[in-house]
Amino acid sequence: MLILVTGGAGYIGSHTCVELLLAGHDVVVVDDFSNSSPEALRRVERLAGRPVHLHQLDILDAARLETVFAGRSFDAVIHFAGLKAVGESVAQPLRYFRTNLGTTLNLLEAMARHGVQRLVFSSSSTVYGNPTRVPLTEDMPLSAVNPYGRTKLMIEDILRDFCAANADWQVALLRYFNPVGAHASGLMGEDPRGIPNNLMPFITKVAVGRLEALSVFGTDYPTPDGTAIRDYIHVVDVARGHVAAVQGLASLRGARAVNLGTGRGHSVREVISAMERVLGRPLPTRNAPRRAGDATASWADPSLARQLWGWTATHTLDDMCRDALRWQTAHPDGYDTRPA
Ligand code: NAD
Ligand code: WQD
Repeated sequence: MLILVTGGAGYIGSHTCVELLLAGHDVVVVDDFSNSSPEALRRVERLAGRPVHLHQLDILDAARLETVFAGRSFDAVIHFAGLKAVGESVAQPLRYFRTNLGTTLNLLEAMARHGVQRLVFSSSSTVYGNPTRVPLTEDMPLSAVNPYGRTKLMIEDILRDFCAANADWQVALLRYFNPVGAHASGLMGEDPRGIPNNLMPFITKVAVGRLEALSVFGTDYPTPDGTAIRDYIHVVDVARGHVAAVQGLASLRGARAVNLGTGRGHSVREVISAMERVLGRPLPTRNAPRRAGDATASWADPSLARQLWGWTATHTLDDMCRDALRWQTAHPDGYDTRPA
């Protein structure tokens, strides 16, 4: 298949491009590198041994996006491009609504004009809001707890409405839980700008001595060890989930939400212990108050993805820590680090 990948230079997009190419598909990437590096795509080509075709442009520019579709017939689109930082979305809600909704609307209009009717969209477990029950199945109630989450929920609604009006469309709304880790080669990984907000990139920076200590946000949750629980999933499993989804679109009808998680929850303390096992020494941590807006526990029931596409996550928490650490050690400054 010929697949258009928006945001293909980003964290999840770059790992997905490798898996798509290895599965024999051709890939065209659209990215403006607003939160990524062109070096990521060079690494994709090196790992897959095949070229990626790149259009460097802002998807909010509909006229330029149109040029990507001209003269090519895509079999499907995977839409990763967008803004994803929860705290930033609280401070700059309009920017989040403009970018996340605007890119999606431009993309849908371009696809419709060119008769491309298969889409995989990056949704998020954030659409379950603060879960009252776990594991989470796709039919559970949805809500938004911050502007970022609201953009995901609104886009899901837009896609459901759009598919209701256009019966030929086939759309997968993939709800990722907590993607972490890096490519096992150590050549690709997460490259957040500034001080990381998320747990795993913060821990790896502490592990390599770039940050002093990890603050454990909340030690009084009603969980076995008092820290919050999430479904961490290796980014390569997420990437392979996209290959499975894109290959399975032909048998979907309308817009279908599907969880991508492992089905296992791990506490913050368990993640720290796993990283300490991989590292072979203790990590400096300090107890801190709960972070506003955080849920106690969130993990997926991933059985729908298995039932539809035969996909399951295969990597363990130790794999996630080992690969994240390998990437961070080799690239303490992300893609700006000269290759070792
Ligand atoms: P990322 O920021 O690494 O990748 C997004 C890519 O989109 C970047 O390369 C960026 O340069 C590009 N981009 C952003 N705005 C653009 C625009 N207007 N035009 C063209 N390119 C643009 O993020 P990621 O972690 O790879 O996440 C990918 C998608 O998955 C996002 O939609 C995100 O909301 C969603 N998601 C991520 C997580 C996570 O924990 N990483 C969890 C759930 C859902
Ligand atoms: C995990 C746990 C923190 C940092 C976020 C988004 C979500 C989705 C995935 C995009 C929590 C704790 C963290 C630290 C800590 N992204 N923590 N010290 O919040 O579950 O999900 O990423 O869609 O929408 O909200 O992930 O990695 O930030 O936090 O103790 O320095 O680690 O409190 O319990 P989260 P996270």
